Amino acid sequence: MRKRDYFPLGIATGKAFCNRKEETDLLLSNINSGKHTLLMATRRYGKSSLALHAIGLSKQPFVEIDFYMASTEKAVEAYILTSVVELIGRALGQVDKLINSIKKYIKNLNPKLEIGAANMTLELVAAQDSDPASNVKEALLLLERLLVEKNKRAILLMDEFQNVGVIAKGTGIEAAIRHVAQKTKNLTILFSGSNRKLLQTMFEDENRPLYKLCWKLSLQRISAQHYHAHLQKAAQAAWSMQLKQKIIDEILQLTERHPYYLNKLCDKLWTFCVQLPTIKNVRQHWSAILAEEKSDAVKEISSLSAGQKSVLCELAERDKLQMTDKETILKLQMTSSSIVRALDGLDEKDIIEKLERGYRIINPVLKFYVLQGKRVNP
Ligand SMILES: Nc1ncnc2c1ncn2[C@@H]1O[C@H](COP(=O)(O)OP(=O)(O)O)[C@@H](O)[C@H]1O
Ligand SMILES: [Mg+2]
Repeated sequence: MRKRDYFPLGIATGKAFCNRKEETDLLLSNINSGKHTLLMATRRYGKSSLALHAIGLSKQPFVEIDFYMASTEKAVEAYILTSVVELIGRALGQVDKLINSIKKYIKNLNPKLEIGAANMTLELVAAQDSDPASNVKEALLLLERLLVEKNKRAILLMDEFQNVGVIAKGTGIEAAIRHVAQKTKNLTILFSGSNRKLLQTMFEDENRPLYKLCWKLSLQRISAQHYHAHLQKAAQAAWSMQLKQKIIDEILQLTERHPYYLNKLCDKLWTFCVQLPTIKNVRQHWSAILAEEKSDAVKEISSLSAGQKSVLCELAERDKLQMTDKETILKLQMTSSSIVRALDGLDEKDIIEKLERGYRIINPVLKFYVLQGKRVNP
């Protein structure tokens, strides 16, 4: 492995994948026993990397559907129909040999076989004014039935799944997916998404069709201990030496172990430092990242309400569990209900997250600029 491959800004694979052993084992065991799982965490915490890592270990064929661009039920239907066809091909091979079974299992969808350059391709065509939810149900059931018939297993990874909830508003397609998910034995679905609030309503509200359907796995940050071992391995590969403890501490502290920012900083260090990095190198490269990201951070902070900004300033100093105690109310000059409203708003925008020990600002760069703004305008 080349030394720069240790810290990707996209999916972490192979040696770049740090620990997450417990989460991988759980996910793999769920996949192997056909249990659907909901992976939940804020953006850039490592959901896709973990899902793909566990899927890779399972050796099952899979297809990923990313719903981040979907904006209508018809679009969701199109994504799912295409993915079903793709997964049929990957899990069961030549589609022309399956055509009789396919015809047996579908009623409304129209299977179209086309002779391609190398092999036959299948398309599932939905009638013009047909209902997307029933088409989705039929396509997913078709996939499951074919898998059962051929005694094969497969995985559908549905990413940014909260978008389906926004579009379907708890009915239609969500219900269709639940209907199928309740019955499947050979098809496993991994739901993944970053909007925790929306996902929680989709999966935990008794009136919503996906209630209690799957295992929930909330991803936290990778521990300092695990990063320690990971960074030493990468240092050994790049400089044939171990890093000093204080260098590792500085990297972990500046990036707050945010997986994306840690990789971004280390990618720079591992690229530019000919010898083991010094504290000065670490700080210099971190400053460069802060400068690069300044305009985005400032834009995000400027778009917040006055109440949200005040609450954010308070949280930038330390993670706090109790935000509506007397002392904070007096300090912020806000009522307890307006503090709660501001916290909810920031949570919904994915700017803060609630942990056991309190609320925390997710992005270390944003936090830096909140603190800087505070020093300029106390
Ligand atoms: N287990 C891991 N070990 C090391 N880096 C990781 C790990 N998981 C994610 N990352 C890094 O974190 C960032 C975000 O990862 P990604 O899987 O795309 O997150 P998400 O799907 O939650 O947005 C990337 O830079 C990726 O390389
Ligand atoms: Mg992702």
